[in-house]
Amino acid sequence: MQRHLIGLLLGTEEDWPRAFELLLGRVGKIRWQGGTHELASERIVNEPFDLRSKPRYDLVIDRLAWWYQLPREWLKKAALMDDVYLLNNPFTFQSMEKHSAYCAMMRLGLKVPETWMVPHKVPPENERFQATAERYNAPFELADVGARVGYPLYMKPFDGGQWVGVTRVADERELHDRYDASGERLMHLQRAVEPMDVFVRSLSIGPETMSMAYDPGRPLHDRYQVRHGFLGEQTGFEVVTISRLVNAFFRWEFNSCETIVRGGEVHPIDYANASPDVALTSLHYYFPWAIRALARWSAFCAVSERRMRLFQDSRRYFEIGDDESLSYEEQLRRYRALADAYFSADEYREFCAAVLPHLDEATVELVESSEFDGVLVDAVRSTFPQHEHERFVAHYRGLLSAWARDQTPATR
Ligand SMILES: Nc1ncnc2c1ncn2[C@@H]1O[C@H](COP(=O)(O)OP(=O)(O)OP(=O)(O)O)[C@@H](O)[C@H]1O
Ligand SMILES: [Mg+2]
Repeated sequence: MQRHLIGLLLGTEEDWPRAFELLLGRVGKIRWQGGTHELASERIVNEPFDLRSKPRYDLVIDRLAWWYQLPREWLKKAALMDDVYLLNNPFTFQSMEKHSAYCAMMRLGLKVPETWMVPHKVPPENERFQATAERYNAPFELADVGARVGYPLYMKPFDGGQWVGVTRVADERELHDRYDASGERLMHLQRAVEPMDVFVRSLSIGPETMSMAYDPGRPLHDRYQVRHGFLGEQTGFEVVTISRLVNAFFRWEFNSCETIVRGGEVHPIDYANASPDVALTSLHYYFPWAIRALARWSAFCAVSERRMRLFQDSRRYFEIGDDESLSYEEQLRRYRALADAYFSADEYREFCAAVLPHLDEATVELVESSEFDGVLVDAVRSTFPQHEHERFVAHYRGLLSAWARDQTPATR
């Protein structure tokens, strides 16, 4: 019997880790290629570490290293020295800023809106700055850049997240005001994709992607809309392919990606999340899908001894992007093949069918259990003010039992 330990590197979250631990407890023994395997999980503690120590984990799901350096450096050691499989690999964080993803995706021929970078309003504090700028910084007219991008546009930090510093700019006067207020943050100006048909947020875990209609203007609990088949086959393929391509290109395995569909065209605007939102209170109906995908992908990576690839292999993608004889559709098909190969999508599907056929049923049973209801109630209590608890507990219970009911009879 081989035992595989999955480490959870956590901050303040309780909801998905508890659901994940409960589901993993229901997986049971896995028989795979003549061997028997068992999965267990453990929450990792931060402590001094010997760089030569051997971690006990086969795989780590990391939710902390994007802001906390101690675990980030521990993860790097575990990746370089011990072949621990990481969701996500901290070496790829450098390109977690939007800027790198924009550049790569533009080169790959995706329909990223017109985007410019402008110098800091308040330059970096460095004694060399003044003299360097006098020699080399070209004077520029912000209004000219605004006119080249076109209005309305979005001004947003090149490395941002959670809407911090993001503003919609309608005209030149507003552009000046916003730029003056941008301070020390390095900004992009990006043409707005408006009016949009639909805003899609796609959550990917390994080779699984869920594309969800998302309304960024609504309150947090109501942003993900429960809508099936809203994209149509062609656009659905395109959105999933773009998400998977971005992930395979940068070696991100647990990430969300945002695309805006307008007039049938898909424009990616935001790709990189070292620690994507999987809160029960935001994902609601889609939460069990995410927990099941995390359990499945962790099981696949640990049991099949998938090796993490530390660094990127961008050349094969660029060869497709640079080939002007290929249509956009043909490029997408080829990217999809590369991305699916990177994620071992076929082997993963076979693995799930062969050794985890009971997981769909187990997930439904978990969602209908009292233990899960406890997770739900605690998630509501820690998210909303007391006077809203009753209403939101009922709201989320309704959405989650709808998910359980919607699972096809074949999986029930
Ligand atoms: N080019 C664009 N066209 C239309 N809307 C945009 C564009 N860029 C950004 N937005 C709007 O601004 C919001 C925030 O932008 P963006 O997603 O790039 O920033 P963020 O800080 O990463 O946000 P989050 O962390 O919520 O994903 C988007 O959800 C979208 O509503
Ligand atoms: Mg976003």
